[in-house]
Amino acid sequence: MSKLAQQYWNEVGSKKDFEDPLYLERLSSFLTKESKIVEYGCGYGRLLQLLNTNGYQNLVGFDFAQSMIERGKNANPNLDLRLLKEPGKIPCATESVDAVIMSTVLCCMIDSNEQERLFEEILRVLKKDGVLYLSDFLICNDEKYKRKYSAGFQNFGTWGIYTTSENLVVRHLSTQNVFELLKNFDIQWFEQFDFKTMNQNPARTFHCIAKK
Ligand SMILES: C[S@@+](CC[C@H](N)C(=O)[O-])C[C@H]1O[C@@H](n2cnc3c(N)ncnc32)[C@H](O)[C@@H]1O
Repeated sequence: MSKLAQQYWNEVGSKKDFEDPLYLERLSSFLTKESKIVEYGCGYGRLLQLLNTNGYQNLVGFDFAQSMIERGKNANPNLDLRLLKEPGKIPCATESVDAVIMSTVLCCMIDSNEQERLFEEILRVLKKDGVLYLSDFLICNDEKYKRKYSAGFQNFGTWGIYTTSENLVVRHLSTQNVFELLKNFDIQWFEQFDFKTMNQNPARTFHCIAKK
């Protein structure tokens, strides 16, 4: 985990508003209102609040940025939002969780090994037939992004990594990267969308539901 990234999310990032949707109509068929739902990289709890207003009550969110957790608790004191002691480790018992949600968190992790370890950790905490709802950014093919990825490739040796105007290093994934991360899951739904980054730049996203 990068300390610089953590600092960004504690300072600049915690003042941003996120907009990537959660397609609850897709997820709800895998849940009951009692399902234990964990969000990894929950930010200020935007998606957990959406679940809560839709009647889901067994919710907990984890994030590595203290300011995000504080913002979320101030805005929605009803939510159980917790600071991660050890980023990458989900402090839940093995096979105790019905659903994990992770929305636009992989883009903050540029290291493939760190991403892979997180997917192993998600598999560990999920019950049999539990689901992961995953959404994130895909590699774009337009020239503006190609220039950014090319500069990132010089520094980091991986296509899809670039440095934003706010000096945050982020990563967009290929669909192949995503399927490789999900190799031990059974993909139930996968769809791509045109969207935008948190800095309002055009981007491509995917949303998917994958079963343990
Ligand atoms: C773009 S925000 C999305 C927040 C939330 N998922 C949402 O959609 O509203 C990314 C979040 O991931 C958190 N994050 C980034 N890297 C992380 C890591 N390695 N471990 C835990 N949280 C992380 C950041 O602090 C931030 O809150």
